[in-house]
Amino acid sequence: MKILVAYASKSGTTAKCAKMLAEYLSGTELVDLTKKTPNLDNYDLIVIGSSIRMGYLHKAAGVFINEHRQQLLKKKTAFFFCSGFVNDMEQLIKENLPDEVAEKAIIIDSFGGELNIEKQKGIDKFVAKMIAQKVSKQQQLMPRIYPERIKLFAVKLLA
Ligand SMILES: Cc1cc2nc3c(=O)[nH]c(=O)nc-3n(C[C@H](O)[C@H](O)[C@H](O)COP(=O)(O)O)c2cc1C
Repeated sequence: MKILVAYASKSGTTAKCAKMLAEYLSGTELVDLTKKTPNLDNYDLIVIGSSIRMGYLHKAAGVFINEHRQQLLKKKTAFFFCSGFVNDMEQLIKENLPDEVAEKAIIIDSFGGELNIEKQKGIDKFVAKMIAQKVSKQQQLMPRIYPERIKLFAVKLLA
């Protein structure tokens, strides 16, 4: 089975998670959607990963999904998000994936995220600091990657 893991990342966490996922799926091709547009005809299973900022997908992932909606509906698909918070999946899916694409996906999950303030620039840095302050004030845990979710995602994909 030919597998594509296509991802869009702003500060590297989604790229890192895409590589972690690909390690479980032998022969997978990894494509950075901010640099290249893959030809979906070449794959049997398509996984698309994106970072989440202000509730929305990375632009490159959002545009790719919308422009390839018809092709995606004809393939096995799965989606993962890298988001600081993993408990609002329903809302994230509703806001970011066309209903028919989401309904057909084998699995959609968040792998968590990282809040690297020093890697952010401009307004993103400001927002990242605000998120960190809010998390600490509410005594919540800082965002982190959940490797066990990545493993389970891979297991479900290959089942
Ligand atoms: C400016 C900014 C906005 C963010 N907005 C959200 C958000 O709306 N929801 C969320 O769960 N996480 C949010 N996060 C956390 C990111 O999803 C997390 O940092 C993720 O790992 C970023 O992935 P990337 O490094 O691939 O860009 C935000 C982070 C930043 C810096």
